[in-house]
Amino acid sequence: MEAVAVPSAATKPTVLRVAAFCGSLRKDSWHRGLIRAAEELCEESIPGLQIDHVDISGLPPLNTDLETDDGEGFPPDVEAFRDRVRAADCFLFASPEYNYSITGTLKNALDWGSRGKKPCWADRAAAIVCAGGTFGGARASLHLRQVGVFLDLHFINKPELHVRGYEDPPKFDAHGNLIHAETRERLMQVLLSLQAFALRLQPKDK
Ligand SMILES: Cc1cc2nc3c(=O)[nH]c(=O)nc-3n(C[C@H](O)[C@H](O)[C@H](O)COP(=O)(O)O)c2cc1C
Repeated sequence: MEAVAVPSAATKPTVLRVAAFCGSLRKDSWHRGLIRAAEELCEESIPGLQIDHVDISGLPPLNTDLETDDGEGFPPDVEAFRDRVRAADCFLFASPEYNYSITGTLKNALDWGSRGKKPCWADRAAAIVCAGGTFGGARASLHLRQVGVFLDLHFINKPELHVRGYEDPPKFDAHGNLIHAETRERLMQVLLSLQAFALRLQPKDK
């Protein structure tokens, strides 16, 4: 696996806000565990990244009747969600695979962010991390990339993190905490790659 270079310390340190989304509602979710591990890694080792876990569990199911007549007003929870998405520099999607695709929870959030004239997702870097069965959620990852085409998201291509959660050695404990050192290191490389790509995409005047 190729190591990703950390941006030079000589340049002005830029702290990028990473909005992180968990596609699972489960209390002991592996994907929530991946976001927790990403938070820890950023706090310990990547001062240029700050994870903002955006809880999408309370968003109403998308219904365009809930929008104002001009299509620019949304229920308060949705407005707050959209504001946090827009405030982010880049995105981390922790996406379970349900029946070869992304979960309804995650798709609902992506759809709410796609509404209105002010784009929420466009033109930002994004990374996907998955955990699942034999393919580690890889098929969900590919579906998310497909949705991201229309949202104008720019996904990093490498490295990929598709965790085979049911195989030995255990990757997560009973509460969904990531306990596998090698997977933690791979997650670190994903975050560094996201950081490097997000910096490349930053507007020059920011
Ligand atoms: C409705 C449903 C469908 C699933 N379909 C798949 C699947 O297609 N491929 C797969 O690898 N795992 C599948 N799984 C297993 C999940 O990927 C696994 O439970 C994973 O832990 C979910 O993430 P979480 O721990 O964050 O909740 C499915 C689970 C559920 C509940």
